[in-house]
This record gives sequence, C-alpha cells and structure tokens, in this order.
Amino acid sequence: MNTLTRRLYAARAQQGTVAAPPRDVRPASTAALGETGRAPVRPAVAVDPGAADALAAYRIPREPYWRPVGDEVALYEAAYAVRMPMMLKGPTGCGKTRFVEYMAWKLGKPLITVACHEDMTASDLVGRFLLDASGTRWQDGPLALAARYGAICYLDEVVEARQDTTVVIHPLTDKRRMLPLEKKGEVIEAHPDFQLVVSFNPGYQSLMKDLKQSTKQRFGALDFDYPEHEVEAEIVAHESGVDRETAGKLVHIAERARNLKGHGLDEGISTRMLIHAGSLIAQGVPALSACRMALVRPITDDADMRDALDAAVTTYF
Ligand SMILES: Nc1ncnc2c1ncn2[C@@H]1O[C@H](COP(=O)(O)OP(=O)(O)OP(=O)(O)O)[C@@H](O)[C@H]1O
Ligand SMILES: [Mg+2]
Repeated sequence: MNTLTRRLYAARAQQGTVAAPPRDVRPASTAALGETGRAPVRPAVAVDPGAADALAAYRIPREPYWRPVGDEVALYEAAYAVRMPMMLKGPTGCGKTRFVEYMAWKLGKPLITVACHEDMTASDLVGRFLLDASGTRWQDGPLALAARYGAICYLDEVVEARQDTTVVIHPLTDKRRMLPLEKKGEVIEAHPDFQLVVSFNPGYQSLMKDLKQSTKQRFGALDFDYPEHEVEAEIVAHESGVDRETAGKLVHIAERARNLKGHGLDEGISTRMLIHAGSLIAQGVPALSACRMALVRPITDDADMRDALDAAVTTYF
C-alpha cells in the first residue's frame, strides 16, 4: 500500500466511513449477514443521479437460457448472499459465461464483463483521467463502475492478466471491500450489491500464468465441465434448433474427441462447437460438411487427427 492509499484509508477511518453500515442501508437480502459477521457488506455509496444510467447498459433484459447441471444455481445464490467472490473454472465453451449471465439476471443485478489479456493494466480496470475540451475528466474503469454503483463484475480469463494487475482486486475481495483509485485520490467503498466473479480454464494454465495463492484464496470456486450426454444434447437441441436425435449424435462425436484430449488434442470439442455444428445443420447444411467445418477443422491441423475425427463423424452421420 503506498503512502497516498494509507492516507486515504486513515482519513476514511477517522471520518468513520469504513465502519460497519447502519442496518437500514443494507438491502433486505443482506440484512441478516451482519450478525454472522461473514459478509463484508458496506454502506451504499451516496446515490449519484447518474447511477441508474451508468449501469443501464449492463442490465440483462431477458432470461438467458440456462439448463441446470447440478446444484450450481443454489450454490451461487448462497455465495452471492454473503458476497463471496467467485471463481468459475472449466474448459472453453462449457457454459461459464452463460451461467454468470443467467445468475446476474436471476439476482436482478447488472453484469459488467471484462475480457482479461496480458496487456491489460490496472488503469484499464479502475479508470483513468481523460483529456477533453474542458480539461481533464476522470473516467471510471469497469471495476470501479461495478464497485461504485453495484454490479456483478466478471473478469473473464483472469489468469491472462499480469499479477501486478490482478492485485488491484485484493482490497475489494476481502473484508475491506474497497477499491483505491490512487490517481484520483479516492477510495470507493463497494456498493452492497457488488460482487466479483472471475473465470479461468485450468487447462490453459502454466506455472507462469497461475494466480497467486493470495488471490485464489479470496474466492469460492465452482467447477464447470461439459454436461452429461442427455443434458448436453438437450442444450445443443435448444440452442441450435436441431432435433434431439441429431443433437445426441453431435454429443457422441464430441465425447469421442474429448477422449483424445492429451493424446494429440489440446482441448476436446466444446458444447459451443456442437451448437455451431447444430446451427449449420438446422440451416440445411449437410451434417457431414457441418461437422467438418464446425467441429473438426477448427480444433486440429494434424492430418491424422483430422482423419480420426472425420471417421468419428461418419460413424454417426
Ligand atoms: N448448462 C447450460 N445451459 C444452457 N446453455 C449452455 C449450458 N452450457 C453450455 N451452454 C451453451 O454453450 C455455449 C458456450 O458457453 P459459454 O460461452 O458460456 O462458455 P464459456 O465456458 O464461457 O467458454 P470460454 O471459456 O471460452 O469463455 C453458451 O452460449 C450456451 O449456448
Ligand atoms: Mg466465456
């Protein structure tokens, strides 16, 4: 913590603004949490007249389709009730993003998604001063916006971000629930509705790209994977418009490919790819061509592996 941040904390503490919130400012759903001492719920920030507008674009207007695969919905609801930061782990295209969208809709909270990458800086998350005709103007980054006005902030593929960037989430994901904007000289006390969610694909992890233990240990985690056969066929049929029988065949092909993971394939065929193939078939593309284009060609350039996967396709179509 640098001197400015320390001074800001000290000033806040003196003003009493970092103390526990008075009961009446907590939302109904979190009113009981203070007694357990578990949820670090802070008082609401002063309501900015622009707040509704600030988050309008991030509200999810319609119910996203989510086919439950286990107890993930109840577990996430419990985690949100105590504002536990959450980590969603699983391979690409298995439903992590869709699940967060569904949960944000179900909880009635706006969702701000950030795709993390290695060039992302702390300023990209918290905000920066911009120059305009009238001088300099502060612009909140997505994390500051979510913390200030009360959204779920979803950091997609968080391991892609450099560790010096990820540490900005530390004070937000422990009891403090604060985000220091050092350049602006402000400390945001997270809105009671704020929650941080991150996702990552453990398969992509290398030692260089793992999260620090001090970051990981701030989160609860849910494992995601491709659903079992019948459930995945139901999802593929729903999302692509093919009949259940065709969807079932597509899932069989994916299951074959998933067995080749680590034996020549880096990743198996995802639910997302099956939906692509199904959508082409539903458009009238012959199943063989649709599978080659949407399932086989994207995941491997190896001629033998392509032959093996093409053979799996011809077994079913
Ligand atoms: N349980 C489910 N219910 C409904 N749709 C699902 C489910 N699981 C997967 N899907 C479908 O799979 C598609 C891909 O999932 P999604 O984009 O959420 O993957 P992801 O895990 O976020 O992948 P990535 O790590 O690449 O971002 C979704 O658009 C959705 O159509
Ligand atoms: Mg995603």
